[in-house]
Amino acid sequence: MIGTVNSRPSWFVQVIFAAITFLSYGARVYGGITSTFVRSEWPSVDIPLDNEVFAVPKGHNAPQQVHITQGDYDGKAVIVSWVTTDTPVLSVVHFGTSPGRYTLSAKGTATNYTFHNYKSGYVHHCLLEGLKYDTKYYYKIGEGDSSREFSFQTPPKIGPDAPYKFGIIGDLGQTYNSLSTLEHYMHSGAQAVLFVGDLSYADRYQYNDVGLRWDTWGRFIEKIAAYQPWLWAAGNHEIEYMPYMGEVIPFKSYLYRYATPYLASKSTSPLWYAVRRASAHIIVLSSYSPFVKYTPQWMWLREELKRVDREKTPWLIVLMHVPIYNSNDAHFMEGESMRSVFERWFVRNKVDVIFAGHVHAYERSYRISNIHYNVSTGDRYPIPDESAPVYITVGDGGNQEGLAGRFRDPQPDYSAFREASYGHSTLEIKNRTHALYHWNRNDDGRKVATDSFVLQNQYWATNGRRRRLKKNHYLTSLVGQIATY
Ligand SMILES: [Fe+2]
Repeated sequence: MIGTVNSRPSWFVQVIFAAITFLSYGARVYGGITSTFVRSEWPSVDIPLDNEVFAVPKGHNAPQQVHITQGDYDGKAVIVSWVTTDTPVLSVVHFGTSPGRYTLSAKGTATNYTFHNYKSGYVHHCLLEGLKYDTKYYYKIGEGDSSREFSFQTPPKIGPDAPYKFGIIGDLGQTYNSLSTLEHYMHSGAQAVLFVGDLSYADRYQYNDVGLRWDTWGRFIEKIAAYQPWLWAAGNHEIEYMPYMGEVIPFKSYLYRYATPYLASKSTSPLWYAVRRASAHIIVLSSYSPFVKYTPQWMWLREELKRVDREKTPWLIVLMHVPIYNSNDAHFMEGESMRSVFERWFVRNKVDVIFAGHVHAYERSYRISNIHYNVSTGDRYPIPDESAPVYITVGDGGNQEGLAGRFRDPQPDYSAFREASYGHSTLEIKNRTHALYHWNRNDDGRKVATDSFVLQNQYWATNGRRRRLKKNHYLTSLVGQIATY
């Protein structure tokens, strides 16, 4: 492949890069678009409890609500989680690399909790360690006739050119629109979900129904979450501060049910952590935990950013629930407090992209920053900044609260594209310099690519080494990208 590339004349190389730069410049030419598309949608009501999408698996005490997430820092471990309703049977996962031949096993733990008058099933979490990279594993949980079998694919080894396709989903809930998002996502070809908070919306219910709607949501996402990891960020609907029910421990249901590998990144809380996967370093922040100077989250992020090695993982991605840049009337300015604390670090560390949810619409920013603001100068408007991340809001999973259709008018200069429709995004990393990004609106009966662009890596696309390396093995994949557009 390298020989083929080197045999091209130098003018050809220059033309290819000029074309890539021109095409991807669409993400930086200022003058945003407010899409007026209005899709006919289903009512924003939760799917009834007796619908088949919430069906309890057959068999006594059969494992249900099966989901997996990354279990370590580098992608060689998986946490398998599930719920059993009756007596706590052994929490064991049998697994191996051939279907039906489970030569390995791992023991986990099972806990349950109460939420007012609701008593949860036994929530199992089991860590599968020492996995091989880029390998398909088959696993079995449960006993006898009630056992169930699933599979997952481990990511490629950490490396600067390891390709990987992430999906991004937020604010999902459990409506017919949520189901449409899941069904479209299943055809995306993405390999792992970056979930930007607000999972079940169970907190819109009261008493026993809160727990029941966590259970239905677990069964709802199983058809995807049992087969590929979802990396979790917490949203406001996970807080569940409900003093009138005697429930005052924030994130109680969420933390019992959805594990994160926070210890592997030296975090002291499951609510903020980091993982490395393929060529990406993914940092997950908690919008609803203290983050001002000297708090645990602030101190952890300061250290985690030092651990980022763009030579090994060129792509630096941050997840949070509340968007820092949002021009929708819904939740306007709610991200301002985190912006004032962390934006300077994001720019200094050349974060590639920040995904958020919370606002039930889609929006993408240009590369802008507002780090020079201070109260004495009054210089406060975001300005173009090539070192700044692209901010993308994907709070459009389709929950019970409906769409946020009132964008501020006129569209601010920092806003590149915005539309109030349901959907999900994908980020397909091709190599260390380029990734393809798509936002996919849920359209009736088919997936439609709407907002899309080539994302240039903030470290490698501006690094002098890129010029020395570009004549080598990148060119072939770049030619493939051009053909995409
Ligand atoms: Fe939210």
